[in-house]
Amino acid sequence: MTGRIRPLSEFIANQIAAGEVVERPASIVKELVENSLDAQASSIRVDIEHAGVKRIRVRDDGLGIHADDMALAVARHATSKIAAATDLGEIATLGFRGEALASVASVARLAITSRQKDAQNAWRLEVAGGDLLAHKPAAHPPGTTVEVTDLFYNTPARRKFLKTERTESAHLQDAYRRVALANPSVAFELTAGTRTLDHLSPGSSADRVGAVFGERFLTESTVIDESGGGMRLNGWIGLPTFSDSRATRQRFFVNGRPVQDRLAAHAVRQAYRDVLFHGRHPVFVLFLTLDPSMVDVNVHPTKSEVRFRDSRDVHDFVFGKLSRALRDVRPGATAAVRADDRSDAAPAEGQRTFPFEHGERRQGDPLNLAQLFHDEDSGLELRDGGQLPGSSTGTPPLGYAVAQIHGIYILAENEQGLVIVDMHAAHERITYERLKTQLLGGAVDRQRLLVPLALDVSTTEADLIEARSSELEDLGLVMERNGPASLVVREVPALLFDTDIEQLARDVLADFAAFGTSDLLVERQERLLAGTACHASIRANRRLSIPEMNALLRDMETTENAGQCNHGRPTFVVQPLDALDRLFLRGQ
Ligand SMILES: Nc1ncnc2c1ncn2[C@@H]1O[C@H](COP(=O)(O)OP(=O)(O)OP(=O)(O)O)[C@@H](O)[C@H]1O
Ligand SMILES: [Mg+2]
Repeated sequence: MTGRIRPLSEFIANQIAAGEVVERPASIVKELVENSLDAQASSIRVDIEHAGVKRIRVRDDGLGIHADDMALAVARHATSKIAAATDLGEIATLGFRGEALASVASVARLAITSRQKDAQNAWRLEVAGGDLLAHKPAAHPPGTTVEVTDLFYNTPARRKFLKTERTESAHLQDAYRRVALANPSVAFELTAGTRTLDHLSPGSSADRVGAVFGERFLTESTVIDESGGGMRLNGWIGLPTFSDSRATRQRFFVNGRPVQDRLAAHAVRQAYRDVLFHGRHPVFVLFLTLDPSMVDVNVHPTKSEVRFRDSRDVHDFVFGKLSRALRDVRPGATAAVRADDRSDAAPAEGQRTFPFEHGERRQGDPLNLAQLFHDEDSGLELRDGGQLPGSSTGTPPLGYAVAQIHGIYILAENEQGLVIVDMHAAHERITYERLKTQLLGGAVDRQRLLVPLALDVSTTEADLIEARSSELEDLGLVMERNGPASLVVREVPALLFDTDIEQLARDVLADFAAFGTSDLLVERQERLLAGTACHASIRANRRLSIPEMNALLRDMETTENAGQCNHGRPTFVVQPLDALDRLFLRGQ
């Protein structure tokens, strides 16, 4: 239908905006709780009825709203959080658009009761369908209660899109936990009438993570806290041996804002790639903090996505820090123990620094002491044939083999007690790391295509490849521009010769465009290597001699990631003597 142009009424405009902001009850909880946090609340209570569809009430003890501002709070584009266009460049609050309450008010009935600390009494504002129904004095302690009832009562079409109560309730609780996770000093409570669904007392970050993700996550994860280039990344990353079949327990926060960021997801996935079995998902809670001017939060209607000014830097930072932390992980290394690794305190029991001797190290083996001892800053230096400072005996970390049982496990004795090694898993990791060093160390073997493959692309993509062709060449892909909007692939990594080359080239292009880098080429080659490593490794039921077993143990000590096989399963466990003593009730 065409005709004359008329401005939309404010109410319709709000309803349209609400279409993006308010998808379901969970979105309302998120917006209201974020408002409470922006108002510096120290305690937030959320009460719901019928999964929030019938009613959501959020009560806080924050700064409150001035009586004269209450009508403005529900007006569109009215906010107390930013004033000038320049403020948009560095947003430090969760809200900033002045849109949430107006949107909610257009699709539900809304009542706000609020009192500022020095006000004589509270005021209550009621709105529905764009009309102000009441604005009157009320009783309320300092703080604000926002009550949203009958969601989508006036937009039945949207109501139909709501899922079952159970699903909506799950979404709602998820949204609630997301914000709670990032604000451990704030008390949270979630109730459904008289039923308490969740209660979180204020505490440390670790307390909150444990309460939300389960205590077990804390012991099955490693703490990370790294800074550099004006950024800080801290949080908990699950050990590769503690993974999920679905990517549900993954939280990434940018400046305290929960986001679903593709770039970050990619960096994390890439960091875990080597240590996690295909199809498993890591569990993590990560907080990225950087100067607000380096990140644009105004890119998505629900503010769940951000854009970084230097996306490549952010990607490399997150990936670099995580992969280093993961390389350092050995079985038995838990968050609690590793946390005091950072201090100068003596290593905790079960996590001692082993004396180390490298007399058996062969030329060319990667030797990475720092990783073995994760003690990079101590300036440890290894003299030829020498021992680490502090070692009293010459026993190597994984000790000396004493036996093999059932053709599967090697038993060894070290300073701590008993070491049990899964020999296939261990050998697989060693073979894989060795193949990989070859892959990354030397130039990647390339193979020329008999018939070069032409690709039609956009001019931007062609520009990109033209500028970066030497980088690609190092990775084994020779691709050139041969027109304003076309590329030609001439050579590919020999290992990938049999794959769908066009698809590969397009995937790499997409990666370059999105992340400024691509790890696909390396990733696919590594996957092939992993398969090779698995087949080339000693199978169960092969009898090994004691010297063979010792050689394997020494190899493990000098191999990166030796704590897990390529599939993320542990390669060895240590049973300290006192654990064995407990088995036999000794000294009790
Ligand atoms: N719980 C609260 N305590 C104190 N003030 C509040 C509270 N909730 C809302 N306000 C006030 O109402 C204003 C409007 O809230 P609204 O959520 O609509 O917008 P916003 O938070 O400024 O931006 P956004 O749309 O991005 O959330 C806020 O700027 C704030 O001043
Ligand atoms: Mg808001």
